Amino acid sequence: MQIFLDTANLDEIRKGVEWGIVDGVTTNPTLLAKEIKRTGRKKEDILHEICELVNGPVSAEGVSLDFDGIVEDAKYLSSIHPNITVKIPVTPVGIRAIRKLHELNIKVNATLVFSPNQAILAAKAGANFVSPFIGRLDDIGDAGMRIVEQIVTIFENYKFTTKVIVASVRHPMHVVEAALIGADIVTMPFNVLEKMFKHQLTDVGIERFIKDWEEAARILGE
Ligand code: E4P
Repeated sequence: MQIFLDTANLDEIRKGVEWGIVDGVTTNPTLLAKEIKRTGRKKEDILHEICELVNGPVSAEGVSLDFDGIVEDAKYLSSIHPNITVKIPVTPVGIRAIRKLHELNIKVNATLVFSPNQAILAAKAGANFVSPFIGRLDDIGDAGMRIVEQIVTIFENYKFTTKVIVASVRHPMHVVEAALIGADIVTMPFNVLEKMFKHQLTDVGIERFIKDWEEAARILGE
């Protein structure tokens, strides 16, 4: 399973990359706007730096809603760096744009996916990735992970090569559930990645080993 960071925060991405377990990054207009406010830097510079830090796909999203605008946004974003994957919502106009970008060899992450039907349409149009937003489904009382299960099964049934990115992840159990289903990728906020390390018995274990070792060293007079 691949791990993507769902953030545009360069400090967080740098830390994750240092750990050596980050395979890609996803951003969206909200996350980029947050980083622009924090740093005062332009979106192009932020995206370029993320791409230089991470050896893998980096998703970026425009805000145009018409076909020509979506395609123009996608061409511009993908010109920033070869690692850029363009996020497009699965709407009737979005699906036309996904097909067009597929023909132009521009990588697409079909975003804001809330049903297996949207994932089927995106895969048929040639999307490289689909992103089911499970946390937002959980928020409205739905079982977000259920659609991941369905999408993974459907893609296996028809040998679609589109990769499933489990998105809108809120806690480490989402990561475990996604891994058990066999989703290709989980994109998570930095705080979820940090929590994946945590176990109280690990902390207690480290403390005990150090204490015992210091005791032995004292006996030897070291
Ligand atoms: C994924 O690509 C999105 O950027 C993200 O997961 C959205 O998550 P949210 O529902 O926490 O905003």
